[in-house]
Amino acid sequence: MSRNSRISGFFKLTLQQRREQLRTACDLPAEALAALDGGLGTDVADHMIENVVGTYALPLGVATNFRVNERDHLVPMVVEEPSVVAAASHAAKLARELGGFEGTADPPEMIAQIQLTDVPDAQAALAHIQAARAEILALADRVQPRLVERGGGARDLEVRTLGDSMIAVHLIIDCRDAMGANLLNTTAEAVADRLAELSGGRVGLRILSNLADRRRVRISCRVPTRSLAFGEFDGAEVAAAIVGATRFAELDPYRAATHNKGIMNGVDAVVMATANDWRSVEAGAHAYAARSGRYSPLSRWKLEGEVLSGSLEMPLALGTVGGALRTHEGARLALKILDVHSARELALIVGAAGLATNLAALRALASEGIQRGHMKLHARSEKIAAGGIVR
Ligand code: MEV
Repeated sequence: MSRNSRISGFFKLTLQQRREQLRTACDLPAEALAALDGGLGTDVADHMIENVVGTYALPLGVATNFRVNERDHLVPMVVEEPSVVAAASHAAKLARELGGFEGTADPPEMIAQIQLTDVPDAQAALAHIQAARAEILALADRVQPRLVERGGGARDLEVRTLGDSMIAVHLIIDCRDAMGANLLNTTAEAVADRLAELSGGRVGLRILSNLADRRRVRISCRVPTRSLAFGEFDGAEVAAAIVGATRFAELDPYRAATHNKGIMNGVDAVVMATANDWRSVEAGAHAYAARSGRYSPLSRWKLEGEVLSGSLEMPLALGTVGGALRTHEGARLALKILDVHSARELALIVGAAGLATNLAALRALASEGIQRGHMKLHARSEKIAAGGIVR
């Protein structure tokens, strides 16, 4: 059954009513909702990491109005900051007017790095390793027969000399729907000795690269400028200021960092809800933002007549199988709510959430400023604290 993410007035309902709406919208059995209360028992947590003494809760909200590549999605978000879920929902509603978000995601190819040190002749090593490409790829595939069965496996080999008698070998592996960290690391370890032999050097580090630039997502959306009007600011004025904000971020890394933080508000919240590795996503995003040697914005906004058009490109190494998803019931429920069936589909929605929170932030900054909206919601948390609901 396809979803309808337009649940009007969702924010006005009580928590119980929202749960009921969500259950109906996603066609979930009543017992599935139990996973909304943390979704992780201490018995399970005790097996996930070391020295466990408890679990740690954060709010889980659902953003509405998302339409990505012509499919509606309700978007679970885990975040402590007020206004992120509201901002995402509102921006998704704006984008929806002209069809929602569109995007493409690269095949799930990740890089396993093998460092070779003390290489006596780097150019000769390069030639020997490149000549053994087929042998190394076959060796890598032998280590991951189940991945190969699922249609993934080793795809390519790249070699770079780094100076200092050091070589970096990149083994490119299609991880299918896994984030891939474990399988990349295992494979890197398995091929390293043979690579060292070919290079005449020694094995150094064997680990994935979090700069997952072969696994990028590209998302765009268009918003009629008239819909951006805010208080006394008309839509054209707000749109022009949003374009100006993009330019500011392009010219100034101090602004670019904050611009990208607004994107990561949406990205991380969905990454967290699905128990993906947000540190890896963060590391990849910021390394990619700095790829030219200058830290830059991950998204850009421009005017096309009476339409504001935005685009985002960033690496997103995400999984819909394996990792903490094996144990975290709440995260598994989040995937059901999202209605995604592959890591690529998940990456598209995560990218859309990032572009949405970016748009909402820039729109507020371009008009009344961020504080008014923020403070209204902040006041609500203060009231809860003062009323003793939160001790
Ligand atoms: C706050 O969480 C995010 C913003 O600072 C993003 C931005 O400035 O674009 C509002």
